[in-house]
Amino acid sequence: MTMIPGWYYDELQQIGVDFEDAAQVQSYDRKQTSNTPEVNQALIQRLGISKGHTVIEIGTGTATFAIEAAVAGAYVYAVDVSDAMLSYARHKASAANAENIEFYRAGFLTYEHQGEPVDYIVTKFAFHHLPDFWKMVGLLRMQSMLKPGGVLYLRDVVFSFKPNEYCSSIDAWINRVAKPAGEGFTKADFEMHVREENSTFAWILESMLTRSGFEIIEKDYPTTEYAEYICQKR
Ligand SMILES: C[S@@+](CC[C@H](N)C(=O)[O-])C[C@H]1O[C@@H](n2cnc3c(N)ncnc32)[C@H](O)[C@@H]1O
Repeated sequence: MTMIPGWYYDELQQIGVDFEDAAQVQSYDRKQTSNTPEVNQALIQRLGISKGHTVIEIGTGTATFAIEAAVAGAYVYAVDVSDAMLSYARHKASAANAENIEFYRAGFLTYEHQGEPVDYIVTKFAFHHLPDFWKMVGLLRMQSMLKPGGVLYLRDVVFSFKPNEYCSSIDAWINRVAKPAGEGFTKADFEMHVREENSTFAWILESMLTRSGFEIIEKDYPTTEYAEYICQKR
């Protein structure tokens, strides 16, 4: 986009958890216990990412996935709106000798991919930062950055409980997953997620994926608050 219109969403603003806060960044890997190198290695293998592939990761955070993809031989464009996250991620990548990663401060709505269309786009626990209208814009933009047949992997907090059971479902979820302070994401963190971030319903996201030019190849709702999609550009 050459000129950003006045009505365009400002995705650099932090909503919910402030990922420009150094304390949040420093403690992130400790709190996000399911995002280990091993879990990311398994995902990379499952998606078939290997030497010679190009991968964009949007909302890279501390770059755990990006580093493992680079170590597996892919060329990785790691994108995030947070300067604090990017600076932490750069140090982590350099300590891991993961050289084939380029970091960019941008997001779903502003990253302009300069190279050839890529084989894969991966985004985990970041897409919910956008309101639904802007999720659609983000999907259209990601679709345009992929090669024909390219793969989008999307994982996030997505709701598939019955809409009229929202109250008991959200309460039960938070009670199940919240940890004591210092051991992970707390009740207050999850409450803020629901109150201020933009997690949406599965049927909305599925419809957006299809309407933005993807075929959903695999979808999984491990519980009614999380979703994973493997999609292919049509
Ligand atoms: C919960 S963290 C997830 C990090 C990592 N993907 C993971 O799975 O651990 C969310 C990340 O998304 C980034 N983010 C928020 N809004 C974004 C946007 N519009 N575009 C790209 N990244 C965004 C935040 O700065 C943060 O680093």
